[in-house]
Amino acid sequence: MCGIVGYVGEQSAADVLFSGLARLEYRGYDSWGIALAAPDGLQVRKKSGKLAGLRDLLATETLPGTVGIGHTRWATHGRPDDVNAHPHLDCHGHIAIVHNGIIENYVELREELRRQGHTFVSQTDTEVIVHLLERELADPDALRADGGYVGEYARSGAPDALLTAAVAATIRHLDGAYALAVLWDALPDCLVAARKGSPLIIGLGQGENLIASDIPAVLAHTRRVAILNDGDLAVVRAGGVEFLDGGLTAVTEPEIMEVEWSLEAAEKGGYEDFMLKEIHEQPTALRATLQGRFEDGRVQLSELTLSDAELAALERVFIIACGTSYHAGLVAKTLIEKWARIPVEVQVSSEFRYSDPLVDARTLVIAITQSGETIDTLFGVREARAKGAKAFAVTNVVGSSVTRPEAADGVVYTHAGPEIGVAATKTFTAQIAALNVLALKLAQARGTLTADEIARIFAELNELPGHIEQILLHQDDIRSCAESGCCVNACTSLFLGRGVGVPIAMEGALKLKEISYIHAEAYAAGEMKHGPIALIDASVPVVGVATDGSTYEKVVSNIKEVQARDAIVVVVASEGNESIRNRVDHVFYVPRTSELLSPIVATVPLQLFAYYIAKSRGCDVDQPRNLAKSVTVE
Ligand code: M6R
Repeated sequence: MCGIVGYVGEQSAADVLFSGLARLEYRGYDSWGIALAAPDGLQVRKKSGKLAGLRDLLATETLPGTVGIGHTRWATHGRPDDVNAHPHLDCHGHIAIVHNGIIENYVELREELRRQGHTFVSQTDTEVIVHLLERELADPDALRADGGYVGEYARSGAPDALLTAAVAATIRHLDGAYALAVLWDALPDCLVAARKGSPLIIGLGQGENLIASDIPAVLAHTRRVAILNDGDLAVVRAGGVEFLDGGLTAVTEPEIMEVEWSLEAAEKGGYEDFMLKEIHEQPTALRATLQGRFEDGRVQLSELTLSDAELAALERVFIIACGTSYHAGLVAKTLIEKWARIPVEVQVSSEFRYSDPLVDARTLVIAITQSGETIDTLFGVREARAKGAKAFAVTNVVGSSVTRPEAADGVVYTHAGPEIGVAATKTFTAQIAALNVLALKLAQARGTLTADEIARIFAELNELPGHIEQILLHQDDIRSCAESGCCVNACTSLFLGRGVGVPIAMEGALKLKEISYIHAEAYAAGEMKHGPIALIDASVPVVGVATDGSTYEKVVSNIKEVQARDAIVVVVASEGNESIRNRVDHVFYVPRTSELLSPIVATVPLQLFAYYIAKSRGCDVDQPRNLAKSVTVE
């Protein structure tokens, strides 16, 4: 959600900003903009629409400057038009800022600034920030006279003293979340960045430094990356970066990491889309996530820093997550309850925080978030810890906000590699794999499964990557079914499952609706006759998750009920189930697994099904409309 890139170096800032922003396209956006420090002042270009607009502009116009900030905006306050696009400028065009997040008190601030003579041109919350900065910079004496850390820094004699002090003074007024970058024409060789609640990383290069919302934007320049701590600021110059905490004290040892994955990992690698590439990366992602997790007859999960005695004493598990991650949580509920015999509640994060949840020191809270930046989940974790619970995160993004010590008590990483397509695919199956490990760890600590049983389950888990490879070999069958008129032209569809098949039906429906814009609803199959069956006729495809398991016959009965109402039926079934072939319109076979491990294999055909339907409808599968990869607003 919103992408920020900033550059200070020797190359053309406009070019660097364009390529950086292009690498952040996956986050979702509807307008773009850049501001450059040019010899005759700030140069700003911004427009609604996709980055192709900036590419076309750069093909016809040479924009000077080696320092600049860029932004892709996902509209929250105000329409996605040229005026609301970032950067935003002060009244006189000397200061430019880009911002990700939401300023919750912007209405009051805007009124106050208006009364003081500031003129606003956009409907955004962001614009107040640049006017606050203008107010601070207009009165350097007042900045220097400030009795606290702002004044101290303003008087420090640092070359960037006034701007940095002004940024620090400004953010004291802001309620809400922000990652922001500031460019001031009076200090054209430096950027000041700050963050609270929204992601921002610093790329540390040779003779050049960058800021960005995410790592892919800086990888063409450097693999050395520092994550800006929440509440901190950074002063970025070509020759170095100064890290400051919220009180403007130097952070002398910022946490710097060497990014292990390459730029290629964040490129399409010959596939038509990131989504298809990422679907195909699932075997590798799963192997990496499971690697080393069962050794010497024991589940290895030291990241879960609770002792076996503490795990055994747990009375309850709460899982919080959003979207696809929530579906992984629903799968985990069954695994944990069956294997570790602890009651599990799963709640969408945005509801959890405001529900006065019944968590305490005997509750384990598991926050599942691919990006590690979903604000609702971050707030949920904070709420759980405030109530005394231990909270652990399952995430795919090293260094993301949820991994910070101030966010969670510990982190279990999925090792799926960067996921660029907005639709979560490989990270979903990797999350389920990690949650299998976590459930087995709980079962081991509580003695609810024997060592042999755990070893047997691990052996089967390790077969899953190979099973997915088998499914991918048959993707053309799924493609022809998806492309058939009944699916591509449907207006609505129903996904059914039972038991662990319910979250998989939900995930299948989410994939279809988010990338193809066909309405899709998921139901526990037994519930269908309590209402949704009224929707069924020959125009409604019904997709059933009918892999082998304890409720298989029940699912088949529910399928017969929709067939009796003329529905077209597509099912995911276990290999060897020949009898179903003649009973339904299409079958996607998946290798046989035990029931509790079926979610991973059953998901893959539904991802491909949604993918091929969306492609046939001409949809942009990697960047579906209105969606963002990482949802950093409530
Ligand atoms: O990064 P997170 O896992 O916290 O994201 C949660 C949802 O926004 C996400 O799973 C979303 O539903 C998917 N992109 C859908 O494919």
